Amino acid sequence: MCGIIGACLGSQACMNLLIGEIIFNGLLRLEYRGYDSAGVAVIADELMVRKGKGKLIELNARLSFKELRGCTGIGHTRWATHGVPNDINAHPHVDCRKMFAVVHNGVLENFSELKRVLKNRGHVFASDTDTEVIPHLVEEHYYRTGNVYESFKEAVKTLKGSYAILLVTSLEPFKIFFAKKDSPLIIGLGEGFNLLASDIPAVLSHTRSVVVIRDYWVGFITPDEAFVEDLASGRRVEVKDYIRTVEWSLSEAEKSGYPHFMLKEIYEQPRAVMETLYGALNDQLIPEAIKLLTDAGKIYVTGAGTSFHAAEHFSITGTRLAGKPIISFISSEYDTYLPATGEGDVLIVVSQSGETMDSLKALRAFKRRGVRIIAVSNVIDSAIPRESHVTLYTRAGPEIGVAATKTFTTQTTLLTYLAVRLGEAVGRLDVGEGREILGNIRSAGSLVKEALESAEKLAKKMATAISRSSSAYYLSRGVGVPVAKEGALKIKEVAYVHAESYPAGESKHGPIALVENSFPVVFVIPNDSYLEALLLGNIEEMKARGAYVVGVGPEGSRTMELLNEFLPVPRAHWALAPVTHTVPLQLIAYYAAVEKGFDPDKPRNLAKTVTVE
Ligand code: AGP
Repeated sequence: MCGIIGACLGSQACMNLLIGEIIFNGLLRLEYRGYDSAGVAVIADELMVRKGKGKLIELNARLSFKELRGCTGIGHTRWATHGVPNDINAHPHVDCRKMFAVVHNGVLENFSELKRVLKNRGHVFASDTDTEVIPHLVEEHYYRTGNVYESFKEAVKTLKGSYAILLVTSLEPFKIFFAKKDSPLIIGLGEGFNLLASDIPAVLSHTRSVVVIRDYWVGFITPDEAFVEDLASGRRVEVKDYIRTVEWSLSEAEKSGYPHFMLKEIYEQPRAVMETLYGALNDQLIPEAIKLLTDAGKIYVTGAGTSFHAAEHFSITGTRLAGKPIISFISSEYDTYLPATGEGDVLIVVSQSGETMDSLKALRAFKRRGVRIIAVSNVIDSAIPRESHVTLYTRAGPEIGVAATKTFTTQTTLLTYLAVRLGEAVGRLDVGEGREILGNIRSAGSLVKEALESAEKLAKKMATAISRSSSAYYLSRGVGVPVAKEGALKIKEVAYVHAESYPAGESKHGPIALVENSFPVVFVIPNDSYLEALLLGNIEEMKARGAYVVGVGPEGSRTMELLNEFLPVPRAHWALAPVTHTVPLQLIAYYAAVEKGFDPDKPRNLAKTVTVE
């Protein structure tokens, strides 16, 4: 998730407005989308590109973005997905003859094969990014057509994955070419100038008149017009039919109109899960990780907080799908497991920030004993990836809310994909089941979307009931246990309800003593008929003590009749429970916090990244 912006100034505007400032200030407003490197390209007498690693303010001191002059320019602030943050991998990227400069937000699924073809045709690549294939593709088509827009369209038609692309060229100095699929892009319509940006905050100080660009739209802006075509229908788009006026304040705009980053990030999950999958399907390191796990003596998986819940989920899916025992532990408890480790073992360290000290300490201790380390992280080149042998990245983009949401569903999507590939590699998973799960994983983005659409209203109702109580239980069995723990952690973190989670079979061994009239118990019912049957008894025993029992489970679940409230989620393979069942639990926690008047983005006593032991 990066931030991109483009500005096309007419002669008048070009005299009054400084393009370097417009682009720099716009990128500042988009920095919540990514901040590890940035760059700008402007067309003055020629195409000029300035870019580097670092935050915008520091980079401007070094590269003077704001001083740039010209009438047409584009800018980018990066959240690295392909290629570590450095000066070369920063955007914009150019072609061999520096005719075209491109900025891109998204993940290209087929970039490696495109790169191979272009290299065979003599193109020379400077960076490790997926994005750099775009200017070279346009250059390749331009040799043939001599027409920039046609070449741009031909290039876009060959791309797979998600993209919002802006291209400038000295061949057409008063135009910015754009294309969009899955990644956000808007046009900001002005008097004598037009803008393009990933999000509304970047244009709000210049105009409130915007067009939200739809998937498969391609076109260009000039200072006076926006030309748009729909690649899917091949038809021209009447831009005036899509103009709308933004009423939001700037801070509202940064949250895309959501009241809090937490809710915005909950609703970003369909895109985040899909982009994480694109990355995994294309990741050259997955086979290496599978090899390490296949040959491993013992496999351990660890993390802290939400990342531990993702680790625990992997230990369950990996053991069931690959038949290899996978030991999960909370990273601050690594000492307990150390004596039994050594050469040939593998440790997976899950950490969205990649900086959590407990997990880093576990990594270092295991590594000292010759254990191979696989990291799963959301921040490229952070400490844990830097010290690991293999790193697999989620693509959730920056997470601002302290309570992890989209990083959990992206971690579990990536780890479930790994479990399936491992099951296939060790020959444990039959092709049919493997294909079924991969099919579900491929539609994980729409499964989350469906879960979101059906959860809102009921989650609010459940939140009201649960927030009246100072404590609650979140229960499940098997693959549902880490999801229930995640639900309990969320409502503890943001609504300060003392929610405890444990495998439901344990209730009768003690915890049920706490249950009395209207004591809230949330059941997570996996899509697994064996576990569902066991949970029926657990629901009965809670109801018999007067508990207020609610459930999150697959449509048509047998538990529905027993529960006070039932929140249905889409039916999918049991291994995908975190993707289908977590969203309602996140919403319950969010609405409970709001109901109690707390700010879910900045919960008390907590920090987003815990870099102390
Ligand atoms: C989760 O909502 C919390 N922010 C916290 O438990 C977090 O998951 C934990 O600190 C681990 O962070 P990491 O994923 O960055 O390592």
